[in-house]
Amino acid sequence: MTPHISAARASIPPNLVSVSDYAEVAKQYISHPIYEYIAGGGADQLTLCRNRHALDKIQLLPKMLRDCTKGSSALRFMGESLRHPVILAPVAFHQLVHPQGEMATAQAASSLETTMVVSTLASHKLEDIAQNLDSGKWFQLYFQQSREFTLSLVKRAQAAGYSKIMVTVDASLHGIRNRAQRAGFVLPEGIEAVNLRDRPPLPQKTLAPQQSIIFQGMMTEAPTWQDIAWLQQNTSLDIIIKGIMHPADALKAQQMGIAGIVVSNHGGRALDSIPSAIELLPKIRQALGPDYPIIVDGAIERGTDIYKALALGADTVMVGRPQLYALAVAGALGVAHMLRVLREELEVTMAMMGTPTIDDITQDTLYQSDY
Ligand code: FNR
Repeated sequence: MTPHISAARASIPPNLVSVSDYAEVAKQYISHPIYEYIAGGGADQLTLCRNRHALDKIQLLPKMLRDCTKGSSALRFMGESLRHPVILAPVAFHQLVHPQGEMATAQAASSLETTMVVSTLASHKLEDIAQNLDSGKWFQLYFQQSREFTLSLVKRAQAAGYSKIMVTVDASLHGIRNRAQRAGFVLPEGIEAVNLRDRPPLPQKTLAPQQSIIFQGMMTEAPTWQDIAWLQQNTSLDIIIKGIMHPADALKAQQMGIAGIVVSNHGGRALDSIPSAIELLPKIRQALGPDYPIIVDGAIERGTDIYKALALGADTVMVGRPQLYALAVAGALGVAHMLRVLREELEVTMAMMGTPTIDDITQDTLYQSDY
């Protein structure tokens, strides 16, 4: 057994009934520094708290006596069939919490017919994860300093059967991760970004005294819109940009012919003091029109959260941390259970709202109160 984790359960205890229960119970299965790395947000966690708060503030206004017997939470999205509007967000290093890591998550995703976005920083080879994944396979790309190496990741993903490339653009710098730092988090020995093993070494760079380690140092590796255009020219796969917050950026992505965006603040882990994706969503949907693919994430833990996101203009949501908590507690079984809870809660919400299909979920099902 890896020293930083305890053996996961082989069954789901009866008192584990909601997604947020997993966050609490997971503390028993993961070491404190790792828990802090996963749970923590950027700096003072203003954005992390806002993600939850913004969802809690929204209210639903149900309609009664509708026939719901033909209801379904399935949908078509970006040319693919989704069993429900819930996708597993790209999350680094699943082996931090379970020895089978992404392989177990992929097994759970397959059994619940859920699309999984595999991170560049996965702790298993992207080809091996793809082999274990019978449902939707998307690959999340962090640009690497070498374009050639970046493209080799994309080509490997395409060859392994991944259908979309989700480029994350909001975490070129880690931001300020005080909570993980205070807990002394370091990547345990034996866990690594295996897909980056062949990455060419970064060229040695010496900064002049007046130069900044941030601007002239780290940011020289960060991608720009030009790199996105280059990627478009070099892959036939659909590109989705993850981490868009400003409506002007959303419009730029659309105008460039990017296939879709994820409105996201990286689960409150990157820049602090930015709004929740949920707050920005109506403005971005309005800017992009009704048909442009929009995914949203951040603090999605309840069927009602998914419903609210869809009502405000998202086509589907992604969940991040709950995957790791569920994986820590009960391995593949835990992740499958977590996904089932989300789907069932969404369907209960749709039925009780009198909106039995995804298309029925519109903004006028929400209630604005001055209370
Ligand atoms: C992430 N996220 C992330 N995003 C990404 O594009 N690539 C990655 O490798 C990671 N890694 C990662 C690790 C951990 C521990 C967390 C918690 C998150 C961000 C993730 O995709 C997603 O945007 C957020 O997690 C969504 O918020 P919730 O659901 O965690 O509140």
